[in-house]
Amino acid sequence: MTARKGIILAGGSGTRLFPITTGVSKQLMPIYDKPMIYYPLSVLMMTGIREIAIITTPRDQDQFRRALGDGSQWGLTLSYVVQPHPGGLAQAYTLTEDFLAGAPSCMVLGDNIFFGQGLAEMLSEADARSGGGTIFGYHVADPKRYGVVAMDATGKVTGIVEKPEVPPSDYAVTGLYFLDGHASERARLVKPSRRGEMEIVSLLEMYLDEGTLEVKRMGRGFAWLDTGTHDSLLDAANFVRTLQKRQGLQTGSPDAIAFHNGWISRSDLQAIAATYANNDYGRHLLGLLEDGAELA
Ligand code: DAU
Repeated sequence: MTARKGIILAGGSGTRLFPITTGVSKQLMPIYDKPMIYYPLSVLMMTGIREIAIITTPRDQDQFRRALGDGSQWGLTLSYVVQPHPGGLAQAYTLTEDFLAGAPSCMVLGDNIFFGQGLAEMLSEADARSGGGTIFGYHVADPKRYGVVAMDATGKVTGIVEKPEVPPSDYAVTGLYFLDGHASERARLVKPSRRGEMEIVSLLEMYLDEGTLEVKRMGRGFAWLDTGTHDSLLDAANFVRTLQKRQGLQTGSPDAIAFHNGWISRSDLQAIAATYANNDYGRHLLGLLEDGAELA
């Protein structure tokens, strides 16, 4: 099977957080001790994906290049793709058609954070399916804000509705999508919705209609956070802080995962840790060299 490639959708910046004129890319703002994009990047790395395209607005691309470079510091190959206007999540697949070149993909939204016991296993199960698609449903208190899964009495998924007035269930579709190598050609068939976007649910429905979409439940032991509002941004930072302080483990660290995966050497990690010598993050990385890699 062709190796799965990764996409991080980090365009359409955080106009709900700050006016666009501030020039700050939302996905580079810190969530406690790391830039926001480190968290979705870590999810792709935990899946074992090394070739990743980062989609940004034209204005923001330079900021992302400065922050992440070519990825070689983590044993990755990063490419940058511009999305001229926020034309919808499904557009990510037409923009990356050349990059993907028919390979299966995993796309994660640049403002989504995932944490939980068994996350690595869940990711590798989804990765192992070469055909069709896998998405994740998560029980939320406010399903109206999301894509929502509709199910029949037996729990079989019958549809996915974007931001429904009357949600058919309390299961939101998270911003993590494993699709096979047909995603780009299918995305080209997606017509813009009434709000003018190529909706991800339209693309997912093609897989659903074909009977090849798996909707996995992310149980209550998982945390799925998005960071689209001021409150959720602070909540996410507090969550990461509480977890890390309590456990003494890192979550969302590309440095730690690259080391754990054997993509960088001990001396590489030592050099990275030295650049953070004055803070807990650097001390934690140094600790990994003594204790062995531990993934949160
Ligand atoms: O977070 C999960 C939800 O993400 C799903 O449940 C929904 O089905 C899906 O449509 C999406 O809903 P959102 O309301 O969160 O989408 P939003 O427009 O806020 O975009 C999510 C992120 O993707 C955001 O960081 C900006 C980025 N984005 C968005 C669009 C529409 C882009 O980079 N380009 C785009 O064209």
